[in-house]
Parts: sequence; structure tokens; C-alpha cells
Amino acid sequence: MSGRSSTYYVTTPIYYVNDVPHIGHAYTTLACDVLARFMRLDGRDVHFLTGTDEHGQKVEKAAAAARLAPQAFTDKVSQSFRDLVETMNYSPDNFIRTTEQRHHVASQALWDKLVAAGDIYLGKYAGWYSVRDEAYFVEGETEVGPDNKRRATASGAEVEWVEEPSYFFRLSAWAERLLDFYERNPRFIAPESRRNEVISFVKGGLQDLSVSRTSFSWGVPVPGDAKHIMYVWLDALTNYITECGYPDTANPLWKYWPADLHMVGKDIIRFHCVFWPAFLMAAGVAPPKRVFAHGWWTNEGQKISKSLGNVIDPVELVRTYGLDPVRYFLLREVPFGNDGDLQRRALVGRLNGDLANAYGNLCQRVLSIVAKNLGGKVPLKGAITEVDAALLDRARSLLTTVRAELDEQAFHRALIVLWEVIADANRYVDAQAPWALAKTDPARRDTVLWVLAETVRRVTLLAQPFMPGSAAKILDQLAIPGEDRVFASFDKELVSGTALPAPQGVFPRYVEPAKAAS
Ligand code: MSP
Repeated sequence: MSGRSSTYYVTTPIYYVNDVPHIGHAYTTLACDVLARFMRLDGRDVHFLTGTDEHGQKVEKAAAAARLAPQAFTDKVSQSFRDLVETMNYSPDNFIRTTEQRHHVASQALWDKLVAAGDIYLGKYAGWYSVRDEAYFVEGETEVGPDNKRRATASGAEVEWVEEPSYFFRLSAWAERLLDFYERNPRFIAPESRRNEVISFVKGGLQDLSVSRTSFSWGVPVPGDAKHIMYVWLDALTNYITECGYPDTANPLWKYWPADLHMVGKDIIRFHCVFWPAFLMAAGVAPPKRVFAHGWWTNEGQKISKSLGNVIDPVELVRTYGLDPVRYFLLREVPFGNDGDLQRRALVGRLNGDLANAYGNLCQRVLSIVAKNLGGKVPLKGAITEVDAALLDRARSLLTTVRAELDEQAFHRALIVLWEVIADANRYVDAQAPWALAKTDPARRDTVLWVLAETVRRVTLLAQPFMPGSAAKILDQLAIPGEDRVFASFDKELVSGTALPAPQGVFPRYVEPAKAAS
């Protein structure tokens, strides 16, 4: 396994339960799901965590607006994130909620460690706070709009002046150690542009961070001073180690720490790449190995926002276009790490082009001739020619390439290489014209179909993490037993003569529903 440690711990951000899930949430978790599935198939001992961030002022306000007690409110909204796991066919090993008792224990234990290390002191906070971002801002990071309201420049969220007693974390003392950590761990932040952004932020100097609030109460109480509740981000970030049993490092799940990857959106990189490693180092816990910050989706060119009423509901997308086409599109359309625009026309284009025409058609062409003309059995593999070997070699090299691309979270590139082989295979069918060989050279026809079916097998094994349901259907049609769907069996070629079930189309074309006549 190329010297890779056998455990693989991947996490999503935990989602605020102030509102129901949207496409941004679905996207972050999808990326993690593909990695978790890939690593499992690749023989790694995977732990994949997602969950909900249930404390803080933002959630408390949303609960009040819904006229529910915070716990009842979070129980309800948190469920909609669990429902999304089913809708999107995610495969998390656990779903954590910050209102769980074990999480309070872990957060308070981390707090105690920070106090013991001398990194927390009592003071008074006076400055700007954005409830929507749950973040503090210095004046220079805000601006006053034409409506006279002050907003955070980065997010556009309104800020309010806060003055209250507060505990502080001595972040200012950590700048050098953080820079040194980034230097020694060049893979810690990706992509490169985000790494540069974080480094220049830290080089600009760090201020001590307010880590407790007294003006509301929905959160984890500060140990020994219950007037204060912990800053929601300190509590939220801790979820990643709560899951592994912190502070009980004898917990069997502790083997997964440090996490291999925290997947996050670009808006929350500072929390994960500056605050979190500083908290952990201060507490004597190893920081995570890597944080990848992906970009943001817009909707047909427009920023997604509740006030514009253009929030994309992942459930509606899946209902309209099908689950696997949506999973494929989200990871294929945009180079992972960049921002992307969700255009339904582009989605339909990929669904009909890449899935129905290219991949679906390849499977259909091959499997239907095999069913009709070769008695529904894996064809007999005869002498392999140079063109056959060229296609087979390309398919054989896919595992190494896809593995390397996914180590960099380059989902789009992994899909591109898979679809290059699909395109090669389609060209090969056209050039070899197996239907025409039936009369002239049936043995050659059989070999051509074997080469194609074998190519489909390899591509489909690697498509499993992206499109688990559709890939399973194709592998069923190739009669691949469950135990041979893992990458350890990647080189276990199709056995001639194996009986195959009747083929069925897997990727139907999407036809625009007819508009009502006016
Ligand atoms: N609760 C914090 C995370 C705490 S992790 C210790 C939080 N939650 S969130 O619900 O607001 O956002 C979660 C994720 O959704 C973020 O990674 C964010 O980048 C992502 N997205 C929100 N809107 C998005 C788009 N329009 N496009 C892509 N992802 C977006 O932040």
C-alpha cells in the first residue's frame, strides 16, 4: 500500500443547525464520502465523521425565532442533516452532535489543558462580532455600507459591537510556532493559494482570541466559571477529537488521531488552520495532517443566499436528476478547490453526455451483444493484439493514477482520467466493430468484447466511490462478487465463461419535461 499508514480519518465540518441543509453542505460531505469510500476499497481502516454544530448565538437566535427551546430546535434541524446522509448515500461511520455529553466532557477537558498550559487568561473583550459568522473582527476587517450598517468585509455579514468580560487564548504567542509548523508540514493546507493566504495572515501578526462569552447561555460552560460559555468555535473544533475519545487517549478510536484530512469550505480556513492547530499544540495534542479548503458554488451566476431566495436544495436536485448524476456532476464540473457555478444546463449536458452517451452506452453496447450473441457469458479471451494491450494497459494504470489524484483531493482529475479511458474504449468499439466480426472472425469478436468488458470492470471498480449505486449495478451485470469489488482484486481479470445476468441501462438520458402549453 505504498507505505501509507493503514488508518484514514476524514471529517466534514459540523454544520450549523440554524437552517436546513443546502448544496454547500451536500458538496463538502460528498467530497469526504468519496474519499472514505475510496480508502475503504483501497484497504485502509477508515473513520469518516460528520455531524452538527449546535451551540452558539446563531443557533440560539434561530431557536428563539422558531419559538422552540434550543435543544428541541437542534434535535429537529439536526435530523434534516441525518436525512441528507440517506438522500445523498453518504457512508459516515458516525454522526456527532455537539450537544452530546461526551462532547461537553471533551471540550471542558481541552479547556482545562489550555488553562494548565498558561494559554488562557481572563480579560474583557471590546470589539466587533458577527453572529452569522460566529467570528470576531478588528475594525479594519469591517466596512460601513450605504445603509449605515457595519459588515465583515469577507462575508458581508453584519457585525455588532460587543463589550463583555471574556477569557482569552494567547494566540499572539503562537505565530512563530504556527509558521514553523506550516513550514515543516507543507501538505498541511491545500490548495496552495489557501496556504499562502493563511501564512500571510499569520505573518501579519495574531491577536489574542476571545474564547468565552457571557451575554447568552447556549453552549458549553467554562469549567469553574459557569457565567461564561465557551466560544462556539473552540467547542465546535473539539468535535474532531471528542469522536476519538478525548481526553481518554486509551479509547480505541484514538488510533485515528491525528486526522488525515479535515475537509472545509474556504470561508472557515482560518479557524481550522490557525486557531485549531494552536489550541491543539497548546494542549499537547498533535494537529491534523491536512486541511483542504474547497470553493463555493453560485447558482446560475448568482451568490447563493436566503434573502435572494435561490438556495439550492440538494433533495430537489436529486429528485430531478437522480442521485449519481448529481454526485458525478458536483465533483466533475469544477476543479476541486475552485469556486463553481451550478448551471442546470451544464448538469444535463454532463448527465446526457458523460453518463448516458459515453459510459452508459459503452456498457450497453458491450453487454447487449454479449447477452444476445454470446449466450450471456463472459466472452472467450483469445490472442491479445497491440491495440487490445494498449487499451488494457491504460485501464490497468488507472488505480495508481486515481489514487494519486485523490491523495491531492483532485476529484475532477480522477474523473477525467476515468472518462479518458471510457472515450478510448468507445473509440476502440467503433474501430474494432465487433458486430461485423461475427461472421468473419467470431474468435476475434469474442476477444474484443472480453477486452471491453474487462475495461468496463476496471473503470467501474474505480467509479464506485463516486457513484456507488450505479457502479454496483454495472458490477452486478459483470457478475463481480462483492469480495472482488475491492482494489485488492483490481488485477483479478474477468473469467471467460462466467454467466452474466441480463443487462439493463444504468444511466437514462434526461429529457426536459415538456412545458405546459400556453
Ligand atoms: N459550523 C461551522 C463549521 C464548524 S467545523 C468545526 C460552519 N457551518 S456551516 O453550516 O455554516 O457551513 C459548513 C460548510 O458548508 C462550510 O465548509 C462551508 O464552506 C460550506 N458551504 C456553505 N455554503 C457554501 C456554498 N455556497 N458552496 C460550497 N460550500 C459552502 O461553518
